[in-house]
Amino acid sequence: MTDQGDQTNPTDQVAIADDGPVRVIRFNRPEKKNALTQPMYAAITRALREANDSAAIRCVLLAGGSGAFCAGADIGEFLESAQSGGMRPMTVEFLHALAKTEKPLVAAVGGLAVGIGTTMLLHCDYVVAATAATFATPFTRLGLLPEAGSSLLGPRRMGHARAFALLVMGRPLTAAAAKEAGLVNEVVEAALVEETAMAAAREIAALPAGAVAQSRALLRGELDEVVRRIDTELMVFRERLQSDEARAAFTAFLSRRK
Ligand code: COA
Repeated sequence: MTDQGDQTNPTDQVAIADDGPVRVIRFNRPEKKNALTQPMYAAITRALREANDSAAIRCVLLAGGSGAFCAGADIGEFLESAQSGGMRPMTVEFLHALAKTEKPLVAAVGGLAVGIGTTMLLHCDYVVAATAATFATPFTRLGLLPEAGSSLLGPRRMGHARAFALLVMGRPLTAAAAKEAGLVNEVVEAALVEETAMAAAREIAALPAGAVAQSRALLRGELDEVVRRIDTELMVFRERLQSDEARAAFTAFLSRRK
């Protein structure tokens, strides 16, 4: 495995490594359950864009750790955005890069996936989850709304009823339910998540790249529609960030006693 570390990635909260034709992007902030910060969004965005431009990379694997895939956006940064009045720029860049990723995306979900940790999976082409993984999008509880194009891709992927329960009611899904809903391809025991996801990534990488790219583009449909929806969601999201509901929810989370 070639560590691309310093050349591409100024934060150690994301590890980028190329394993043959598979680029592995690993969220690496375990003490915060891999909640995503601006430097992390920047590193992931750069790694995705580089993958687009590299003929050698034929598939991208998103991974976290065994306990947590990703606990969503960093709520401390949400509160800063609420106070400063804007959406942090790298979040927007990341969401666009995710939607515009040209290489097939595989995810290895070893544990909890919250917020963007779940909605990014709607952009993935193959998802492997641990038996104990959970998927949750508590947007409305935080005074927010679904992002990352999930208001379009969620109902498309799982139907309105299931998407509403997940994305609006904030009811979490078990790994089995996520598979049933079409969010996840395979559920395996925790110890096998990474190797199963890597096997899928290698399988995809071994196929003729041009045929895969064109097939994938057709299956995904109009890219502009997804990007437009991301931008529409962000417009409302920015307003919601400033709301009393959201500020109260962020403050409650950050000051909770465990
Ligand atoms: N933003 C900022 N910090 C976060 C975070 C987030 N999204 N998710 C977890 N953390 C931090 C916790 O504050 C805690 O920090 P501390 O040790 O300094 O107190 C640390 O990560 C570990 O989390 P903890 O809550 O102790 O772990 P847990 O296993 O009991 O619960 C979660 C895990 C993910 C269920 C819980 O942390 C949580 O609900 N996080 C918020 C998820 C969220 O709402 N994301 C945004 C969606 S839009």
